[in-house]
This record gives sequence, C-alpha cells and structure tokens, in this order.
Amino acid sequence: MHTVVTRAPAAVRPAPDAYAVTAEFYDILQAEADAARVRRLYRRAVASARLGVLDIGAGTGRVTLMSLAESRADVHAVEPSRAMRGALLTRLAALPARQRERVTVHPYPLDRAGPAAVADVAVCHNMVGCLPPAARESLWPGIGTALVSGGSLFLQLPPDRMPARTLVRLLPEQRVGAHTYGGRLTMSPAGYRIRTRADYWVRGAQGVLREHTETFWMWPASRARLTGELARYGFVPLPGHDEPELLAVTLAGPH
Ligand SMILES: C[S@@+](CC[C@H](N)C(=O)[O-])C[C@H]1O[C@@H](n2cnc3c(N)ncnc32)[C@H](O)[C@@H]1O
Repeated sequence: MHTVVTRAPAAVRPAPDAYAVTAEFYDILQAEADAARVRRLYRRAVASARLGVLDIGAGTGRVTLMSLAESRADVHAVEPSRAMRGALLTRLAALPARQRERVTVHPYPLDRAGPAAVADVAVCHNMVGCLPPAARESLWPGIGTALVSGGSLFLQLPPDRMPARTLVRLLPEQRVGAHTYGGRLTMSPAGYRIRTRADYWVRGAQGVLREHTETFWMWPASRARLTGELARYGFVPLPGHDEPELLAVTLAGPH
C-alpha cells in the first residue's frame, strides 16, 4: 500500500497535482529553447534587482536559477505543484551553499497572504495563461504585497485570443541513452478556455515503451486586458521594455 501523510497548514496541503505527469518531461523536452527565451526576456531585469526577485510559478526553476546567477539579491520561488517543486529542489540541492542560502521556496499559490515586501523584481514566466480570470484577481494583489513600492513585474503574455482551430505543436525529440523522449501539445478552443493536451512518449529500439497524457486548461488574455487589471492594483506600464511577448509594469505608489 502507498500512503502519504502531510502535516501542513491548509494552504500548503498538496492539491491534486496538475503537473504530476508533465514534470518528468518538462526539462528534457523544453528546457533548451526556453532557457534562451528566459535570458532574453528577464536577464536584464533580474540583474538589476537589489532587494529580491520573486519567481511566480517557478516550475523547475529556470528563472530562479538565472536570478541566483545574475544578481546578489534574494530569490523567492513560488511553486504550488509538488511535482514541479521536486525538480526545483533537486536543482537547488546542487548549488553551492552560498547561493542556496539566498533562495526561499514557497509551496503554495501566490495570493495576497503571501510574502510581503520581499522583492523589487517579480517575474511570471509562462504562467498567467494557466489562471482563470478570477484567480488572476487574487494574484495581482499578491504580487503587490510581495513587491516594494517602485518594484516591477515582468510577465510573459498568454495567448491573446482563442485559437480559431486546433493547433498542434510537436516538441523536438531528445535522446537519453538508448531511449528517445518526445511530446506534442494540442491546443483546442473550448468555449472561453483553451484545452491543452500534452502527449508524451518514450521510444526504445523496439518501438514505444510508454505513453502519457495530461490535460491543462488555459485562459487567453490580451495585453490591454491584463494592463487594465493590473492598473486596479497600482501597476503602471514600465517604459523601455517593448518585446511583443512581454508586459512590464511597475508599482506606482503606496498600495
Ligand atoms: C506552465 S508552468 C511554468 C513553469 C515555469 N515558470 C516555466 O516556465 O518553466 C506554470 C506553473 O505555475 C504554477 N502556478 C499555477 N498557479 C499558481 C499560482 N497561483 N501561484 C504560483 N504558481 C502557480 C504551476 O504549478 C506551474 O508550475
């Protein structure tokens, strides 16, 4: 029999883990391409952090690790999924102690009850599209609480509209010893949400050894809509960050 016992406040108790399957395949299939994107979008911002970097939805830790390397500030990695957090903690375990003592892992979804005034730079990479509009309304004040006045948020924009038809994206296959790992993302319109099915497989010399599927929901949101939502919590556009996939805002005054 398999038994799990957890003693933790309600907010920290593991919910059914949305990334239980994906965590295994996430880095082997996506890390290389994503690492370049993360550097392009956030390196300059995290390098400028003086107080702290808040990595919201840290996943396996790409932004967290880059922040530890590029700045001397503390890093707060917020990651509610136990499976993703497992990969993140394994990465942190390999760091020298002097880097690891600067990073704190928060094992719950960020909302207004999260850490207060710990960061001057916040990053939401590949994360906002995973939240329904009502959940975004808890996230924005949570980020406002975590940032000091004058702090900035850098957010990768989700799809801005529903796809007109089903879109399929094949992830480049990767060799691991005698095996080949592969994956495919299928995004289909489903009312006001995007159904994203992730199919993964592992092949050996004799053919497919195993296959897994995990389904996620995504909610499109335009730049204008997110800018408007954030404005209600005191965030104003930050000039000088014109990348099409990035929204950069700063916390104007006392909040
Ligand atoms: C698609 S993954 C991206 C992970 C990582 N940012 C990356 O790009 O590699 C989205 C992550 O956001 C986390 N997440 C979802 N809702 C969250 C919330 N309210 N607060 C913090 N993290 C959240 C999920 O557990 C998941 O690991």
